[in-house]
Amino acid sequence: MSQVNVGLCGLGTVGTGVVKILKDHAEEIKYKVGSEIDIKKILVNDIHKKRDVSIKQEWLTTNPDELVNNPEIDIIIEVMGGIEDTNILLEQAIRNKKHIVTANKDLMAVHGQKLLRLAKENKCDIFYDASVAGGIPIIRSLTEGLASDKIQKIMGIVNGTTNYILTKMTDEDLAFDPVLKEAQALGFAEADPTSDVDGLDAARKMTLLANLAFKMEIGLEDVEIAGIRTISQEDITFATSLGYTIKLIGIASIHKGKVEVSVEPTLLPKDHPLALVKNEFNAVYVYGEAVGETMFYGPGAGSLPTATAVVSDLMEVVKNVRLGITGNEYITPQYEKQLKQDDE
Ligand code: NDP
Ligand code: HSE
Repeated sequence: MSQVNVGLCGLGTVGTGVVKILKDHAEEIKYKVGSEIDIKKILVNDIHKKRDVSIKQEWLTTNPDELVNNPEIDIIIEVMGGIEDTNILLEQAIRNKKHIVTANKDLMAVHGQKLLRLAKENKCDIFYDASVAGGIPIIRSLTEGLASDKIQKIMGIVNGTTNYILTKMTDEDLAFDPVLKEAQALGFAEADPTSDVDGLDAARKMTLLANLAFKMEIGLEDVEIAGIRTISQEDITFATSLGYTIKLIGIASIHKGKVEVSVEPTLLPKDHPLALVKNEFNAVYVYGEAVGETMFYGPGAGSLPTATAVVSDLMEVVKNVRLGITGNEYITPQYEKQLKQDDE
């Protein structure tokens, strides 16, 4: 593959970052994967909107067929969000033998196992590192760096928007609503920010991590979820007076084969390492039987940090294509078994 052609679905916060990194780091990327990576088409809602990045106008389209049914395109990068329509679009792309890179945790939490299975059947890759904790390579760490270990517990802050809100409410005594608006303006929040605020976004991310870590099919219905909507300024002042900080903490653990996953506001002593994680930053502890305790820290949302993860995944796909090892992504043994039973 001396030249790789990409179809980019979405040119918002993350998509813009992807275009910038592909351009600004082109030499670095080519050196590492040995191929030129070219954008062929970009799917958007509005081709006349002013963009924050320099692109060729002929790249833009509102017609998904120009990407998913385009024989020139090898890889689809999906950074537009949405669940059902996006799932249909990606299924079609995979049937057309296109590899997928996505930052869409909503989609992966709901349809991930099915998409991974379809991709495997079609010898396509799906990579989704950007979908959890933005710029922190946490999925890659679970599937590669810590692959030999038995993971016992994952705990941390996996939503940038709520951490931004709680930080500003605690450190600057600001009210919830204006800080949420700031987080939206900075591009951290979801299109519908209730999924951030009510803990759903963090819960989806925790299910993705739990599925990978414990090789078990964990659904959203298995997660105890509470968001930060009910946290008042008085709660924060009271916690501070007692030497505590309130953080939205996700925990996934396995004990005697039973997995427990929760996302809820938690009181942490103010010198606890997770209490020191500010603004949109995320931090995730991973406890492995052999490795013990590891901690991953970095920007959990935002244009360039998230795009870094997306483009790194893209490079991984290009390398796998060259090695002829695509289609080996992670399906839980439980889901494989269920599919076999369905087939019989
Ligand atoms: P934005 O809302 O900023 O951008 C979405 C882009 O997709 C826009 O360019 C929009 O077009 C386009 N789009 C949306 N729906 C459609 C559609 N049905 N047809 C065609 N084009 C469409 O989103 P983000 O960049 O913030 O997020 C994208 C994805 O990345 C989401 O899944 C999100 O959860 C995930 N993510 C986001 C992070 C972040 O920090 N923002 C971090 C990690 C993951 P137009 O510009 O014309 O409106
Ligand atoms: N809305 C998400 C967050 C984006 O705030 O963490 C990153 O997944």
